[in-house]
Amino acid sequence: MKMLITGGAGFIGSNFIFYMRRRHPDYALVCVDKLTYAGNMETLAPVLDDPHFRFVRADIADRQAMYDLFGAEKPDMVVNFAAETHVDRSIEDPSVFLQTNVMGTQVLLDASRKYGVKRYHQVSTDEVYGDLPLDRPDLFFTEKTPLHASSPYSASKAGADLLCGAYQRTYDMPVTVSRCSNNYGPYQFPEKLIPLMIANALADEPLPVYGQGLNVRDWLYVDDHCAAIDLILEKGRPGQVYNIGGHNEMRNIDIVKTILSILGKPESLIRYVTDRKGHDLRYAIDPTFIHEELGWSPETKFQDGIARTVQWYLDNRAWWEKIVSGEYRDYYERMYANR
Ligand code: NAD
Ligand code: TYD
Repeated sequence: MKMLITGGAGFIGSNFIFYMRRRHPDYALVCVDKLTYAGNMETLAPVLDDPHFRFVRADIADRQAMYDLFGAEKPDMVVNFAAETHVDRSIEDPSVFLQTNVMGTQVLLDASRKYGVKRYHQVSTDEVYGDLPLDRPDLFFTEKTPLHASSPYSASKAGADLLCGAYQRTYDMPVTVSRCSNNYGPYQFPEKLIPLMIANALADEPLPVYGQGLNVRDWLYVDDHCAAIDLILEKGRPGQVYNIGGHNEMRNIDIVKTILSILGKPESLIRYVTDRKGHDLRYAIDPTFIHEELGWSPETKFQDGIARTVQWYLDNRAWWEKIVSGEYRDYYERMYANR
């Protein structure tokens, strides 16, 4: 079994590579990543010498590079994690989101069709469904919820999902799509809520909470997401969409307070700042279908996962301190200076 994993130098892709190494040591894994600001070769250091692993630096939207790679490697399966992923950056400049997330997906689908890939899996997000109201806790996203994206990021992911469905139906391709809720865990880039708050709290810097901090996200430990994708690849039905989430809805402010409490830092570090434009209110997944069809359930309780995650950032300061002192600093100033 040879698996091509795109975006494997990022947060979830790298965790997926480590997960697959543990679960399927006999699989050959090829990682393709453009190494944008979010990709980090240091993350992949533990697998670089593995004879069953190969890293290729390339852009998924580069058709020739992808055809050459698929022709040389002839992967059995493709799992597409590669994407521009940060909503705030998509609000600043949507174009690279369309280029990578939509055009890149199209190139990968074309290459998968041309080279007869046995399964193409698209890693998508619950954000394609738009948001739910805060005063209707009875509502959840199911696989039948219409796509209703709010941000340039989620619109680009929704566009890619529609392409996946169209290729599956038109060309009868073996395509699956998963839509997961917010992930947390090791190796998440410190622009995202949880690692940003951990890094700022450790530096005794203000913790910028958008609006009132009342927006709700449905948090899932990254390994539980990896396990769900592994199951979908093994037992999932081509043409099917699978929602992945663990019924772990939390308000942003409660996440921030939990992190402060684990680190023993004061709540006076919290700073309420101007809200994100078009800020989605609530995401919440109904995972009934993947549970009933594939037997998937999340294993990690939030209290355990968040404690493990904070500990990872404490133990791996070198990994993220290099990031927050580098070019990311300019982004941070631009995004938060006058907020
Ligand atoms: P990330 O930003 O940490 O990593 C993205 C990776 O993709 C990086 O290594 C980057 O270098 C690479 N990449 C970007 N553009 C590329 C291109 N044109 N060609 C090749 N590589 C490119 O993202 P993440 O949080 O790990 O998310 C991975 C996937 O999971 C994305 O598709 C995202 O939409 C989806 N997802 C993320 C979450 C979440 O909470 N993080 C939740 C649900 C779904
Ligand atoms: P984020 O990690 O960017 O994920 P997403 O927007 O894709 O869900 O943000 C999670 C939530 O945290 C979201 O409601 C926005 C909020 N947030 C803040 O309040 N402050 C911050 O500095 C960041 C990055 C996010």
